[in-house]
Amino acid sequence: MTIGFFDSGIGGLTVLEESLRRLPAQDYLYMADTLHVPYGTKSQDEVRSYILDAVETMMAEGLEALVVACNTATSIAVNELRERYSLPIVGMEPAVKPAVEMNRATGKRVLVFATQLTLQLPKYYALVSRVDDGGIVDSLPLPELVRYCEALQFDRRIIGDYFREKLAAYNLDDYGIVVLGCTHYPFYTNILQEILPPHIQIVNGNAGTIRRLAALLSRYGVASGRGSGQVKFMCTGGEQAYIDKMHTALNLLRENKL
Ligand code: DGL
Repeated sequence: MTIGFFDSGIGGLTVLEESLRRLPAQDYLYMADTLHVPYGTKSQDEVRSYILDAVETMMAEGLEALVVACNTATSIAVNELRERYSLPIVGMEPAVKPAVEMNRATGKRVLVFATQLTLQLPKYYALVSRVDDGGIVDSLPLPELVRYCEALQFDRRIIGDYFREKLAAYNLDDYGIVVLGCTHYPFYTNILQEILPPHIQIVNGNAGTIRRLAALLSRYGVASGRGSGQVKFMCTGGEQAYIDKMHTALNLLRENKL
């Protein structure tokens, strides 16, 4: 069987990597919307139509499940995708709820990193209003980080300086958890960990997403164990150079070289 993973670019590979570890006996199709990446700095209407077009192309490949491996795309289109297609669809949202719960005992604040678009959508506002009863959640967009990631820029000094500049205005002693609410950001977990004080935990929604995928697959009775962890890469622009880049990025993640 083939499970589709969709993102604007290479960010969803951080989710795919988790799936390859947890569900190695499936085959995968990974689609990046190279014609339109990044999504996070565009308008909701624009991004909505890009997502619907790209997912339609993926469906023609014969998927048995779809992971919208992008927080921004999930916020905008996951409901519509579920109305259009009858296969199991798993989306992502910033892991604000578990972070708030984990922090309750410490009294520290939660800092959520996500794209501008995710943070300005009603879905995010509703999520924070629902779970943040103590008013402890702060949010910060990191648009340059998506650009760095798409350029495979993993230089510790350049990225470290970027984080230091972005965090200069925050008193980090006040925070207990940083939530990575964009699937590109986990590429930088190790560098970020070096910048943050050691008491701050970094969390993302990738493991939870793959647990939900596994649960959905068994609930829908989708056969498991027939694949071999093969990944077919596609991109909306069809650029071979980008497909090579996706191989490189996935290998960096799988070999833990970041
Ligand atoms: N990876 C995406 C996310 O999880 C979006 C990045 C972008 O295209 O701006 O939100």
